Amino acid sequence: MENKIVNVLVIFGATGDLANRKIFPAINEIYNSKKLPENFQIIGCGRKEIKSNIFKELSSDLLEKSKYLKLDPTLDNDYKVLIKNLNKFQNEYDNINVIFYLSTPPSAYKPIIKNLVKNSLNKESSGYRRIIIEKPFGRNLESAKELNTILTNGFNESQIFRIDHYLGKETVQNILVSRFTNLIFSALWNKEFISYVEITAAESIGIKGRGDYYDNSGAIRDMFQNHLLELLCLVAMEEPNKNSPESIRNEKINVLKKIRKLNFQDDIVRGQYTSSKTENKKFKSYKENEGVKENSKTETFFACKLFVDNDRWRNIPFFIRTGKRLPTKVTEIVVNFKKNINVFSPNNETNMLIFRLQPDEGLLVKFNLKSPGEKSKIINKNMEFHYKNLGDDIIDDAYETLILDVFKGDTMLFSRSDFVEKAWEIVDPILNEISKNNIKLYGYKAGSWGPKKCDDLFRNQNTWRYPCKNLVNDGEICEL
Ligand code: BG6
Repeated sequence: MENKIVNVLVIFGATGDLANRKIFPAINEIYNSKKLPENFQIIGCGRKEIKSNIFKELSSDLLEKSKYLKLDPTLDNDYKVLIKNLNKFQNEYDNINVIFYLSTPPSAYKPIIKNLVKNSLNKESSGYRRIIIEKPFGRNLESAKELNTILTNGFNESQIFRIDHYLGKETVQNILVSRFTNLIFSALWNKEFISYVEITAAESIGIKGRGDYYDNSGAIRDMFQNHLLELLCLVAMEEPNKNSPESIRNEKINVLKKIRKLNFQDDIVRGQYTSSKTENKKFKSYKENEGVKENSKTETFFACKLFVDNDRWRNIPFFIRTGKRLPTKVTEIVVNFKKNINVFSPNNETNMLIFRLQPDEGLLVKFNLKSPGEKSKIINKNMEFHYKNLGDDIIDDAYETLILDVFKGDTMLFSRSDFVEKAWEIVDPILNEISKNNIKLYGYKAGSWGPKKCDDLFRNQNTWRYPCKNLVNDGEICEL
């Protein structure tokens, strides 16, 4: 006889911004591409009494399969109503798969996990139980460890899906494939041929009504501890022995373990944006945002130079920067190759490989060629690939990919507990120095590329690439 299975997605914080902006649209897309598991149901939970239909953005078929429960997930007693609703499926189905999505403020994570466990909602007696939690995973090493302990007391690592949405981006997933399947890249991927790597995640937006959260977080916690360290690991890691979640995740952690202790004085730059006015734009300062303390010392810009002390990368700098209110929104990784000085050109330009993660997703290689008609002049040109040339809507939203992976039980694109802790081990000492006022905070004008001091990280040898919206920025079609 056929085993009948129902798949239930329980969303805590269903009335919140994340559910609205990311989760519901992703579910719609998964549904439209016919990839939703059969017999799919949504139970949205929230503290609020709702007046309007919170599921109205869902396609009509999904709307029928969605239900709202008013419950305070931090209160043990309120879980009765959830259990009752889950048990109702027993009449019709043999197995009930349940995913709990914690789309709440991080302060609610611990009570929710504890309550799920207390009410045996983690037990996999009739179908799987999985839990999704969103970054931030703690706000320092200690709190991350505490959160991991609570999680792993109730769930196996294979049931836990920590979302760092950068890992769901198509172009981020491509980094390993491009690195390891192209001999022309992989053969040169080491300190003999690469002189330095830049990782930039620039945003033109400010903090958009998130003052309370951001002022307690700052760029280091918000972007560096998670998204940017993940990117660094993908660029720097060794080839895994298998194309499996655990092998890949092990290799990423090996990179973190080899990061040299940062030089706080010379290799870190923090900034905070100040107001600015140009001919057609006026920006208020960070401190003028609601929820931000008047004398806030929170950084909205962070840059650092770090080293991975292993045979592949010894003494090759990785420059990382991120900031709010920069001139444009761009995330890219730039691999700068060493100069190839020889009889044809003593001063030729270097090769550069750019992974453009967003926008105008693509890959670009800068290479040298002879200037036509001139015997010894060398010109440096672009060889480029743009994802958009593969067709419209070729790139799925990260949330779509990640939620689909949770249905499949594929943990590859999620942060494992040891990664999270190791990343905090790198970040904690920086935060400690900041709390002792040992790392300066520089102002930078909103709309600029951050504090001037940032260039000093290169010690005058090189400079950052200043990317524009287009992958190609040869001055002709650069759009900020
Ligand atoms: C989030 C941060 O994790 O990532 C935000 O909390 C940031 O502050 C966002 O704006 C950037 O993501 P993306 O996908 O727009 O680069």
